[in-house]
Amino acid sequence: MRIEPATALRGDLAVPGDKSISHRALLLAALADGDSEILGFGASEDTLSTAAAVRALGAEVVVEGDRVGVGGVGLRGLREPAGPLDCGNAGTLMRLLPGLLAGQAGRFELTGDESLSRRPMERIAEPLRALGARVETTDGHGPLVVEGGRPLRPIRWELPVASAQVKSCILLAGLYADGGPTTAVEPYPSRDHTERLLETAGARVRRKPREASVWPAERLRPLRLEVPGDFSSAAPFLLAATLLPGSELRLHGVGINPTRTGFLAVLERMGARVAHFNRRVVGGEPVADLEVQAAELVATEVRPEEVPALLDELPLFALAAAGARGESVVTGAQELRVKESDRLETVKDALRPLGVRIETRHDGLRVRGVPSRPKGGGVVDAAGDHRIAMLGAVAGLVSREGVELRDAESAAVSFPDFFAMLDSLALR
Ligand code: S3P
Repeated sequence: MRIEPATALRGDLAVPGDKSISHRALLLAALADGDSEILGFGASEDTLSTAAAVRALGAEVVVEGDRVGVGGVGLRGLREPAGPLDCGNAGTLMRLLPGLLAGQAGRFELTGDESLSRRPMERIAEPLRALGARVETTDGHGPLVVEGGRPLRPIRWELPVASAQVKSCILLAGLYADGGPTTAVEPYPSRDHTERLLETAGARVRRKPREASVWPAERLRPLRLEVPGDFSSAAPFLLAATLLPGSELRLHGVGINPTRTGFLAVLERMGARVAHFNRRVVGGEPVADLEVQAAELVATEVRPEEVPALLDELPLFALAAAGARGESVVTGAQELRVKESDRLETVKDALRPLGVRIETRHDGLRVRGVPSRPKGGGVVDAAGDHRIAMLGAVAGLVSREGVELRDAESAAVSFPDFFAMLDSLALR
């Protein structure tokens, strides 16, 4: 796909519902006693993998656009499916679902696509075994087998790296751990959507800045939930509007949970002009409308403790840094090497041919920025990674010569309408 340069981004936009919350809402609704309704569901390849998985496990799921109805089967009511559960590209599904399956009678096999099958899974298998579950990985990766229904005992688990997926897996299994509480402790706080949704569903949760605990539950309440717009899907637009002079963009109903908006905080520190309006609470999550105007940026340093709140936006940060005066540095981001791709290397490979001076380190990036458009003109290969596809599109838009984007379809993993929305706002 050819991405031509744009002069500005102008107009109004509402991005689809948050992917992390959509996955979790489906999983908890499947376990509830009764029927749930999820509005503003972010339908994408990833979340539809979760819908298919809970359906295969016996919960009724009806997806009608962004409205989803789920017939919950009760906390221990999921049943063994006829074949393996295909998680597609969805790490969140492959890491959260085993926590629930540990509490269900039966043998469950989870498979994924080539990229997901390369991602580390012992990080969830180990704590689940400590809880008393039987879990097997394939040399530390998927396919994964969970033999559920064994008695579980509460644990207190220290995660070596912050991970919302690992924390969530432990908390979900904790719903079945007799005696409780089950606790996950992190070096830095990661996104807390699971904790919020568990509270909404009536589970007993205790939260401290770096740890979360859950007590075993008898039952979960069905959900009537509205999902806020996905900050991670808003972020490419936020960046493009900041970098293109003359831009004026309003993003409506965006989730601004502080465990997710590190990119916004960092961009503002670099000089971005973003006004927040209509702050409100939607589905137990803080939400606002954001108005973005173009601004000149200066370089900054992203420190390890900031990384969890802008984890999925670090590729976009590299492009922001390329257009900011001075040298920007990211440290403590070694987790990027085990995402849908090795995102330290794929970000470098995407931006270097466009004229960006970027280097990788074992745990981060160094970018020497200049406040002008990157040259562009090269080829960006998303290589199966949705975040790199969206990075390539924004890079093309803000470059002088545009880019040729290979594997643009990958964006559909989290945001199927991304290119249509970008086209409708870009002035050329
Ligand atoms: C997610 C958590 C993050 C993030 C991923 C979605 C989630 O991974 O990168 O895209 O929904 O819990 P970690 O488990 O590394 O925090």
